[in-house]
Amino acid sequence: MTSHALAIIAGDGIGQEVMDQALKALDAAERRFGFSTDRRDYDLGGRRYLATGEVLSDETLAELDEVDAILLGAVGTPDVPPGVLERGLLLKVRFAFDQYVNLRPVKLLPGVPTPIAGLTPDRCDMVIVRENTEGMYAGAGGLLFEGMSHEVATQESINTRHGVERVIRDAFTRAQARRGHLTMVHKTNVLNYAGDLWMRVFTEIGEREFPAVERAYVHADAMCLYLVNSPERFDVVVTDNLFGDIITDLGAAVQGGLGLAASGNIDPTGTHPSMFEPVHGSAPDIAGMGWANPVAAVLSLGMCLRQLGEGDAADAVEHAAATLLTELKTMAGPDMGGSTDDLGDRIATLVADPDSP
Ligand code: NAD
Ligand code: IPM
Ligand code: MN
Repeated sequence: MTSHALAIIAGDGIGQEVMDQALKALDAAERRFGFSTDRRDYDLGGRRYLATGEVLSDETLAELDEVDAILLGAVGTPDVPPGVLERGLLLKVRFAFDQYVNLRPVKLLPGVPTPIAGLTPDRCDMVIVRENTEGMYAGAGGLLFEGMSHEVATQESINTRHGVERVIRDAFTRAQARRGHLTMVHKTNVLNYAGDLWMRVFTEIGEREFPAVERAYVHADAMCLYLVNSPERFDVVVTDNLFGDIITDLGAAVQGGLGLAASGNIDPTGTHPSMFEPVHGSAPDIAGMGWANPVAAVLSLGMCLRQLGEGDAADAVEHAAATLLTELKTMAGPDMGGSTDDLGDRIATLVADPDSP
């Protein structure tokens, strides 16, 4: 029987609540499709940091490097200053494991209420490829004259040809395997240095290596407009780290809410494990209430299973999540028609038997 080593980092807030549901779906998938997982739990996040002062040690990072994939719930808690956990855990893993592709599908599933009046699933099915190791996230910059009236903060965007080429090439490859259309999103009209590099690389790689893929370019501000009023323009989208962060929350809203948006932090070379996580955070405003929608975590598990070569299990998990969504009254909050836990039970039942009433 095939066995996959998985690191489980449930994390903070609703992270644990939604992870529990993803793991129930995984149990059901293992039973039905005849594979197993060796799951290693990592108690990382706010609680651990407050108790021990440790976010993610190099030793733990080395252990994580041994697994086949990582599942993460969410990190971040109001008790800890912003950035400590986000940078010390999440970004540390993304950077250390060179997970340079952040794959974020934006797909409206049938029966899901969207805030965009009249939008139908056939008009909203794209994949956003977010650069995941550079840009504004690199942490370059600093504070001068800290605390003084003339203090200065700089935050630089790092864009290497190596980094831009590899993520753009990956996005072209994905576009070629889908509907053959790739849109680059940037702000070339203002960010002259970074924008110029991105545009030259986009054009060069497109012309030389992917002549059959149609190319389009959209400024990041206009992207926010088009994502709402004409999402059918997009098949695959490639963009830098910060623009990708922002537009994928908007994409999540368009497809029915943050509780539905899945993602994968991928090292396409397979040198290091990839990490799968919902696009959403720890949602301290609803933590402990049982109102979190677990579908984003379950669909992230689906992406993980596909990457591990368990395609049938991935299909079953995605199908179960999609079916559950048609049964919900709302996509988040007290009126979904069941608690987070109830929804997880229903998904697991549907993974085991897609026809279960
Ligand atoms: P958030 O994504 O946690 O929440 C934004 C809004 O969406 C909240 O109103 C929340 O209740 C709602 N929401 C999120 N997930 C939901 C779900 N599954 N079901 C229903 N509603 C859901 O973003 P935030 O409030 O800006 O950040 C909270 C903390 O999470 C911060 O510390 C932030 O840094 C962190 N964060 C972590 C990740 C991650 O671990 N990948 C991602 C984003 C934010
Ligand atoms: C995300 C989150 C993270 C990001 C934060 C928590 C570091 O918002 O995964 O979208 O900005 O990448
Ligand atoms: Mn984000």
